[in-house]
Amino acid sequence: MQLRVVGDHPWDVPADVLAVPFIGEPRFEGVLAELDKRAGGELAALAAFGELKSDRYSTVITPAGSVQAGRVVAVAAGDAGSITRQVVVRIGSSIERRLAGRTVKTLAVWLGDLGEHLEGGATAAAELISRGIVEGEFEPATIYRDDFKGAPPALDELIIVAPDADAAAVKAAAERGIIIGEGCNVARRLDNRSANDVSPEVLAGEARALAEKHGLSIDVLEPARAAELGMGMFLAVGSGSDNPPRMIVLRSGEAGAKDKLGRRLAIIGKGVCFDSGGISIKPADRMEEMKMDKTGACTVIAAITTVARLAPGTPMMAIAPAVENMPGPHSARPGDIVKAMNGKTVDIINTDAEGRLILGDAMCYAEKLGATHMVDVATLTGAVARALGDQMTGAFGTPQSWYDAFAAAGARAGEQYWQLPMIEEYRRDLDSWYADFTNTGSVEGGLIKSALFLREFATVPWVHLDIAGTAYFHKKKAYAPTGATGVSHATLVELALAGAR
Ligand code: BES
Ligand code: MN
Ligand code: ZN
Repeated sequence: MQLRVVGDHPWDVPADVLAVPFIGEPRFEGVLAELDKRAGGELAALAAFGELKSDRYSTVITPAGSVQAGRVVAVAAGDAGSITRQVVVRIGSSIERRLAGRTVKTLAVWLGDLGEHLEGGATAAAELISRGIVEGEFEPATIYRDDFKGAPPALDELIIVAPDADAAAVKAAAERGIIIGEGCNVARRLDNRSANDVSPEVLAGEARALAEKHGLSIDVLEPARAAELGMGMFLAVGSGSDNPPRMIVLRSGEAGAKDKLGRRLAIIGKGVCFDSGGISIKPADRMEEMKMDKTGACTVIAAITTVARLAPGTPMMAIAPAVENMPGPHSARPGDIVKAMNGKTVDIINTDAEGRLILGDAMCYAEKLGATHMVDVATLTGAVARALGDQMTGAFGTPQSWYDAFAAAGARAGEQYWQLPMIEEYRRDLDSWYADFTNTGSVEGGLIKSALFLREFATVPWVHLDIAGTAYFHKKKAYAPTGATGVSHATLVELALAGAR
């Protein structure tokens, strides 16, 4: 997709479609009045008719009259007081998704007054709306079909119309937004692929292809090396499947180097290619969703790739423990005692609490490779989805200063996180007769207990993200299809880029 930034009046920009955001109730003053006049009064007429509404992300398509574009899409930005960075991304996605199935090659987007509601002004608006448009192009219905007709259009050219802005700064920002959006879609496409397609080995192959393309180093540990390293938890989870586990390690930067902030950042993602629950098997209802249990892994693989495109050579690593959690003659059983890479013994009470087992060994390995700061991202518990739903990721972290640094990256990325407490008193619920601790306790506070389990494997600053509620949508939205959302990709990219030179 080509990108152009123009300072012309929006009605003077030739394109297949001109997108026009409006804030609050549709009111036709200033530029909007002129646009409406040139569009033959269509916008005001649709507003009077009730078709053009102020509900955020609602859209209408009108004929363009004497406006140079072929059509005009008006999109509601909603109430001025609640316009956030996330809203601007989603406005972009809503525009693009509204054009699904239509013939559109060039899309012009007028930024309107969106920049007035954001730190960074028009430049920030350009970045976020461009990212949103690219994210809006993603359509999972095309992954296994070439004849799907209703996909959002693949654009040849995006034109950002920003009359009073610094065109060079707007262009650089929009380019950054496009690259972040593309990385998000790389993650989403992998997330949505089925378990008979993406085994741990196939996921490792996808990571290898990305590493070669973007100049990252890659190391894929097979079971024999994982055993030498003492990854007893990781191997226990992987043992039930005929598709053997893989520990995928991507790195950038010089060996031993630290980033500008003195960090060797490790991002670690849960890669359960299918989570049947294992011997503690899940009920059939919605088990098919468990092909998405590799989302954390896909997120970190895509994020380090995006960082490599925006700031090549930034010292960091991405680790993705990839397994299939299956019942079988070699599966781990409830009551099995395994030894983690850090020497701690674990009593596996429930084989369906597998994510924390593979992540614990991956975190130990990250530290062995020199990580000074860690973030893990995982579809870890149903409890987080019940507590926070699909809009807010549950987060934990220690020390607080590292959590705060993470949260600042989340805010720049326009993603929503809610910090939860690691309540010390609950740790005793993981006590075991036979081992240092169990992998599950009673259900009460299960979300917090999952974080307390992971904490046993961190000796450096660490943040844990539970994306089980936010990783994929069960129903489509104006701004996103059913399926993978790419959540946390942009945050991890921002966090890493804060340390780029
Ligand atoms: N992958 C699941 C969590 C999950 C549930 C993700 C729903 C997405 C949607 C995880 O491995 C799991 O099974 N968690 C158990 C933990 C329990 C056994 C302590 C859960 O949440 O029920
Ligand atoms: Mn599970
Ligand atoms: Zn799982």
